Amino acid sequence: MKFNFSLFFIVVLFWGCSTTKSMTYNQAPKYNIIPYPAELLAQKGFFRVSKNVSMVIPDDNPELKANADYLNVFVKEKFGYTLKQSFYAKGTKLNASSLISFIKLKSIVQPEGYQLVISQDGVKIFFAEAKGQFYAIQTLLQLFQGETSYLPAVTIKDAPRYAYRGMHLDVARHFFSVSFIKKYIDYLAKYKYNNFHWHLTEDQGWRIEIKKYPKLQTVAAFRDETLVGHYSDQPHQFDGQKYGGYYTQDEIRDVVAYAKKRYINIIPEIEMPGHAQAAIAAYPELGCTEKAVKVATKWGVFEDVYCPNEQTFQFLEDVLTEVMDLFPSKYIHIGGDECPKKQWKESPFCQELMKKNQLKDEHELQSYFIQRMEKFINSKGRQIIGWDEILEGGLAPNATVMSWRGMKGGIDAAKQNHDVIMTPGSHCYFDHYQSTYSDEPLAIGGFTSLEKVYSFEPTPMMLSQKEARHIIGAQANVWTEYMKTPEKVEYMIFPRMMALAEVVWSPKGKRNFKNFVARLEPQLAQLKKEGANPANHLFDVKAKIFSGDGVKVELSTDAPSPTIRYTMSGDVNAASSVVNTKVAIENSGTLRAASFVNGQQVGHAVSIQFQMHKAAGKTIELINNPSPKYNSGGNNAIFNGVLGSDARYGDKEWLGWEGEDCAAIIDFGQATTCQSLKLRFFNGKGQWIYPPQSVDVFRSEDGRHFTKVKNFKVPDGRQRVITADFNFGIVTAKYLKIHIHRHGIIEAGRQGGGHEAWLFVDEIVVE
Ligand code: ACM
Repeated sequence: MKFNFSLFFIVVLFWGCSTTKSMTYNQAPKYNIIPYPAELLAQKGFFRVSKNVSMVIPDDNPELKANADYLNVFVKEKFGYTLKQSFYAKGTKLNASSLISFIKLKSIVQPEGYQLVISQDGVKIFFAEAKGQFYAIQTLLQLFQGETSYLPAVTIKDAPRYAYRGMHLDVARHFFSVSFIKKYIDYLAKYKYNNFHWHLTEDQGWRIEIKKYPKLQTVAAFRDETLVGHYSDQPHQFDGQKYGGYYTQDEIRDVVAYAKKRYINIIPEIEMPGHAQAAIAAYPELGCTEKAVKVATKWGVFEDVYCPNEQTFQFLEDVLTEVMDLFPSKYIHIGGDECPKKQWKESPFCQELMKKNQLKDEHELQSYFIQRMEKFINSKGRQIIGWDEILEGGLAPNATVMSWRGMKGGIDAAKQNHDVIMTPGSHCYFDHYQSTYSDEPLAIGGFTSLEKVYSFEPTPMMLSQKEARHIIGAQANVWTEYMKTPEKVEYMIFPRMMALAEVVWSPKGKRNFKNFVARLEPQLAQLKKEGANPANHLFDVKAKIFSGDGVKVELSTDAPSPTIRYTMSGDVNAASSVVNTKVAIENSGTLRAASFVNGQQVGHAVSIQFQMHKAAGKTIELINNPSPKYNSGGNNAIFNGVLGSDARYGDKEWLGWEGEDCAAIIDFGQATTCQSLKLRFFNGKGQWIYPPQSVDVFRSEDGRHFTKVKNFKVPDGRQRVITADFNFGIVTAKYLKIHIHRHGIIEAGRQGGGHEAWLFVDEIVVE
């Protein structure tokens, strides 16, 4: 005891002189809080939590005690004891030390705001409402990282930037147990999210018990089998295993109560009028055709949608009545996305209904559908949220819009004075890949790195102040086609949900990616220790390729500390050259690079195969820019000597065009002789990606007047990447123009029928 006591004082002295060193992890900053607080002032010293510390709690609100109990659960788990609690009446003066004092403070205006003061004498937590107390406790818990019982002294004043901070989970494509749902809710609470969007119904399964419609449980909740591998793998294969499940109403009540204690509102989503095949499989009269359908066994968008007849409206009102009984949420999500209009076009009933109601097209019919449901939901005192398609054909009067196909839907809705939750695919789809390494676990596609999520700005600059107030927050979506297990979900959400937490909570001006990464490292270690399965790409080498003035590569890691080494011959090791500036690529070959700490490789080694050709590194001009959704490598990526992935079009090499051709002018700088093109086109028809029809080659001496050299037809096929080798005969020219003619509108009856196909090109090799 004596020894411990003197050690205690040595530690106090040491901490008294040192403002930055932490006792528990070497270089990590002391205040590893995510999301970072609005204001944080580091103080000297610390407070040690021990059995002798007690909590004092205002005696007028049982919620405040419940939150203190919540803190005690963690204290018990971590230290094996609980802190004593005592209660005090309003007006009592608190002056004893060794206390964690919970104190109401009216001057804190934001209901979720709090102040946290840790000093050598104790911990004081100020708040106006119980939810502020809860967020202060979350901050306190993060300060306990590692094994330490020492809390660093600090003064924090905190409140969120956005009122809506959401995470979504699709439990229809794959089903998750109540115990995992609770864990997911705990993750949300830890990072100060306050909305859980529970996606409960889909083509592939109906997951909520509805007493009035038992076939939703016996039929719609189960599918015969499930697609194996990726949707783009042809031919499709299935596992032959019946799959499904649903939550009983008792389970749902239990989860809602669990979330409420963590200040998380649950928004149930009941999809309509599309993504309804499971319900139609159970009750075929809800569809527009007489044909029997089955619960879907593969992914995508399906033509069997609800028919806007009285039977359907009765069904949906009955369902929503039970749903609203279970979920106290102000918002009820009614879906509204991806509803093919084919059956409505072909249905005499729908056409008659349109005529009767003077609806000019099927989009207006969808709007009629949504507005009718909105009226019903409003009549129960609730409000609807819908995906941004609900803008098409006219927005329902009180609807909140979730903008997922980019920011535009959200901008349009805000301009029409509707509230908006931003959740664009570019930054907020956590079903996308998070690294470009080929051993990354299977995902739907795309590439949304941690840094990209961190860079997200939910409120577009172009909105006026008044319009901007309609952007109430942001959300990440977790679609689970390729997430069969809780471990996979954890891998996909961590650490990206921590980055988004900072986007929606912390002041914009306080955001700094490097600083975030420094706080993230110990948090990830902690999550792993607690049994979670986070991804960690912080030490992976990221390569950015520059082309135009030759080909050069910039190598970096998210983690600031490691040394990066590289080689162009063989494997990279601790003796390879250290990267100082950009690496210039002169010849074909493989660049390998990795990061090293204390002579040990950490993270993935990057390996890039360069196949230099006559146009690689040359100045180029693209006549149509690729879509900003698929240009992460920049326009020059199609002339940088590097091919794209054979499996994934979301990497930095593939460029994607939506509704435009790819046309490029190459400036060789001097007369150059060439004779052939090697082209590669991504072929993912399930994702609306089609090879082009044809390619024209032109030559020019001045870059303005071009003459056609040859036209080539592009072959189609079933392979993921279509390759085409075209020989156009020997040409000597200073400029070459390559015009790739896109596929055009996708044929009816296919995925994306009626929409423009995407065109993906990775490299235009000129020899
Ligand atoms: C969506 O991703 N279909 C909303």
